Amino acid sequence: MLEELTAEVKQALAEAEQLIAAAKTVDELRQAESRLMGKQGTLGKLLASIGKLPAEHRGAAGKEINLAKKAITERFACVRTVIEQAADKQAAVGAQAYDPTLPAPVVPRGSVHPVTAVQWEVEDIMARLGFVVVAGPEMETDYYNFEALNIPAMHPARDMQDTFWLTNGWLLRTHTSPCQVRAMEKLGPPLRVIAPGRVFRYETEDASHGNTFHQLEGLMIDRRISIANLIGVMKLILVEVFKRDIKVRLRPGFFPFVEPGFELDMSCEICGGSGCATCKRSGWVEILPCGMVHPNVLRFGGIDPHEYTGFAFGMGLTRLAMMRYGVQDIRGLNSGDLRAIIRPEQRNGPAIIEKNE
Ligand code: DAH
Repeated sequence: MLEELTAEVKQALAEAEQLIAAAKTVDELRQAESRLMGKQGTLGKLLASIGKLPAEHRGAAGKEINLAKKAITERFACVRTVIEQAADKQAAVGAQAYDPTLPAPVVPRGSVHPVTAVQWEVEDIMARLGFVVVAGPEMETDYYNFEALNIPAMHPARDMQDTFWLTNGWLLRTHTSPCQVRAMEKLGPPLRVIAPGRVFRYETEDASHGNTFHQLEGLMIDRRISIANLIGVMKLILVEVFKRDIKVRLRPGFFPFVEPGFELDMSCEICGGSGCATCKRSGWVEILPCGMVHPNVLRFGGIDPHEYTGFAFGMGLTRLAMMRYGVQDIRGLNSGDLRAIIRPEQRNGPAIIEKNE
């Protein structure tokens, strides 16, 4: 009895496939489906027969027939969608009357991030002064990030930079300064290098502090390098970046890897020096901590401090980009918010051809 039924179900399924193959339009498909399911249809008859079966077979038979019904309904729905979509496409293609004399639509172009733009600019300026670009790893050792920079274990200066320690004892570099000793080891004196890159701090974020930001380290080592060289180069960078004379001030600053050390501030470009959230109402922004390389650091780099001296600086690239482009909140720069990261010169006028294109 049940074998007979299975054969009939199979026939209904085969019939459904034939009807589907024969139908050309959605309407034809609908008609075919209702014929198959209707009172006189193969599947319709099977459905009606369930109630008349002996009680012991009813459950199994009902299940089989209903499964077939479900499969057939789904199959019809699927083919219907395909036909409908194809029809839509045909309609769309048919309606696409276009005017070949119209100018092509403007395709929006991507642009480099403000921090990258400032980085390239500083790289160009420094290249003209004979500096070369070097890179260092973002995952650093305690040795290069602290020890070789005259910050031994337990030294309170380690607290100046809240650190993301890794489980393997390494860390995410808290500054680009580790590139200094790496460069000394690799290139030897005399040298002029810059090392731009991403740095990480375990910090609470606010308008002017991020936990991930960019710095650009600079290092010049030669015979008879003095503070005059340091100030000359720092000022030149800022004047070139801002394309006008920039008010700066030099304050003593403590960094274990330089002696003497300085904080070079520039007047806040956001508020013009009158005080705002970005400059913490002071009118000044710390932009260029710098100093004369500490003799211990030269020694760690294998350089004789009696023969050579040098200066180093750690430019806040992210902060410089904020000043340059009037970005008020550092968090905007890593947010993907286009209002913060599209540079003004990209917002209007023709696209700028970028380096590396
Ligand atoms: N690495 C320091 C920091 O991130 C900044 C710095 C200060 C770098 C003085 C220098 C320097 O090269 O001379 O806080």
